[in-house]
Order: sequence, then C-alpha cells, then structure tokens
Amino acid sequence: MVERFGEAAKSTSCPEEARVVLEARGVTKRYDLEGITVHALCGVDLEVCEAQMLAVMGPSGSGKSTLMHIIGLLDHPTDGNVVVEGEDVSRMAPNDLAAVRNKRIGFVFQSFNLLPRTTALSNVELPLIYAGIPMLKRTKLARESLERVGLGDRLGHFSSQLSGGQQQRVAIARALVTKPSIVLADEPTGNLDSRSGIEVMSVLQEFNRQGVTIVVVTHDAVVARHAERIVHLKDGCVVHDELVKDRTIAEDKMRELEAEEASGFPESQDASGATRA
Ligand SMILES: Nc1ncnc2c1ncn2[C@@H]1O[C@H](COP(=O)(O)OP(=O)(O)OP(=O)(O)O)[C@@H](O)[C@H]1O
Ligand SMILES: [Mg+2]
Repeated sequence: MVERFGEAAKSTSCPEEARVVLEARGVTKRYDLEGITVHALCGVDLEVCEAQMLAVMGPSGSGKSTLMHIIGLLDHPTDGNVVVEGEDVSRMAPNDLAAVRNKRIGFVFQSFNLLPRTTALSNVELPLIYAGIPMLKRTKLARESLERVGLGDRLGHFSSQLSGGQQQRVAIARALVTKPSIVLADEPTGNLDSRSGIEVMSVLQEFNRQGVTIVVVTHDAVVARHAERIVHLKDGCVVHDELVKDRTIAEDKMRELEAEEASGFPESQDASGATRA
C-alpha cells in the first residue's frame, strides 16, 4: 500500500501543465536463480513529471537499481509496462529500444564508468560517436558540455588525473552531451566525499532548472532532500511518495561550507591552532 501524506498526495500526478515523461505501470521484476526466486520489484506504479527532480530512496536491496535499469530501458520487467514520453516501449524491438534510450535518456553511475586512459574530452565525445556526429561538431559539443559542469580547464586530463568529484562531473557531461530530456543517476554521490557530493548535486540541480527531468537513486536521506519529490521503496514496493518541503539547494550548502572553512582557518591562527593577538 502506498502511504501519502497531506500535500504529498498531489505529488504523484503531474500538475496540469506538466507532462508525464516516464511511467512504470505495474512493473514487477523476478529473478530465478538456482531454485531461489527473488521478487526485486512487486508491481511498481510510478509517474515522473517533465522537468521534475525525483529521488528514489530505500535500503540496500530494496530494488532501486532494478527500477532504474527498467525505466532506463537497460533491462526488461517481468511484467508491466514502461512508457517513455507517451510511448509504450514494453514490446519494442531491441534496436528501437536502444534508439529511444540513446536519444532520450542519459545515465550517471556511482562508479563513474569512464574510460581510464582517455581524456575527459574523449570520454564525453563517446556517445556522440555512437550517434554518428562528425568530429568537429562532437568536439565542440563535448567541450561545451564539460564547460557547463565547470571542467573547461580539464579537457585534456585523463580520468585518472581527476578527483572523484571531477570524474563524476565528466560522467554528467557525458550523460548530457546528447541533450537527453531525462537523466537517471544511480547513487551519483556514493563514492564521493561530502564536498564533491554537494558539487555533483549542484550540477544536477542546475540541469534540472534548465528543464531536464532528473531521477536520483540513493539510500541517503541528505542526498534525497535535493529533489522536490521522494519515492520510498521497500522490498521492491513503493511505500511512500512525498513532496519535499524546504528542499536542499546545493549551491547554498556550498556557500555555507566555504564560510565554515574560512572561519575554521582564520589567518591569525598559527599551525598549532593557537590564535595570535
Ligand atoms: N541480476 C540479478 N540476479 C538475481 N538477483 C538480483 C539481480 N539483480 C538484483 N537482484 C536482487 O534484487 C534485489 C534488488 O536489488 P537492487 O540492486 O535493485 O537493490 P538496490 O536497492 O539498488 O540496493 P543497493 O542500495 O545495495 O544498491 C536484491 O535482493 C538483489 O539481490
Ligand atoms: Mg543499487
């Protein structure tokens, strides 16, 4: 059963002016392994509205990644349907499905999934090669995408020469370079320190402000509060669906952090921590 609280009940259907861009209808996923059946999803109904930032939260094993892979068309449900921008893709041929995915959906993963001995620019160009974009245009688009995530000065760096937070921002630039309308991010801050995590959430919020629909999968309530809506999964079922009051704005958090750092290391303090007169 889905519990909804007060105003939260309104969050599940999109406001009149907003379209539903992604929909799961009665999605189940069952894995049969060596005589053991795992019910990873129990019949999930979920509508994601255009330009919404949605967090999917739940404990380990609750089905978050399974749901993301299914609504991202990387995996098939056992039962149920997935509708992308009004089109039921459940019974599409693999090639058509790949075309919908490549055109409309971008992915960001916890472990970045960048090619290691490859520059940031080449990593971001990769999906444009698959899309058949000519070289000059793809270099221009990749550079612009990296500039938008604040990495215009790191184009020629290999992944291994970048910090975790920078690598994740390259991954976001790669996800967005084909201009998808939807980005699905699975634990995008999971491998990052808190400062880099804030930077990554700030970039995702910025793209969301520009109209990209974002679904962030996380087990972390602090990360989830950057979204405007949180769907909670437990044992493969949606158990809560709520609107976030006073959502966290990552840019504000970054300013607070910088102010804290500045006040924590006053110039008048010497190396031992003693304050000079
Ligand atoms: N390929 C698979 N074969 C068999 N069982 C699987 C497979 N993938 C996932 N499962 C099972 O499905 C359930 C949901 O897994 P899922 O990876 O979606 O959880 P999650 O919420 O993303 O967890 P985490 O927070 O640890 O990433 C788990 O019980 C898991 O063991
Ligand atoms: Mg997972």
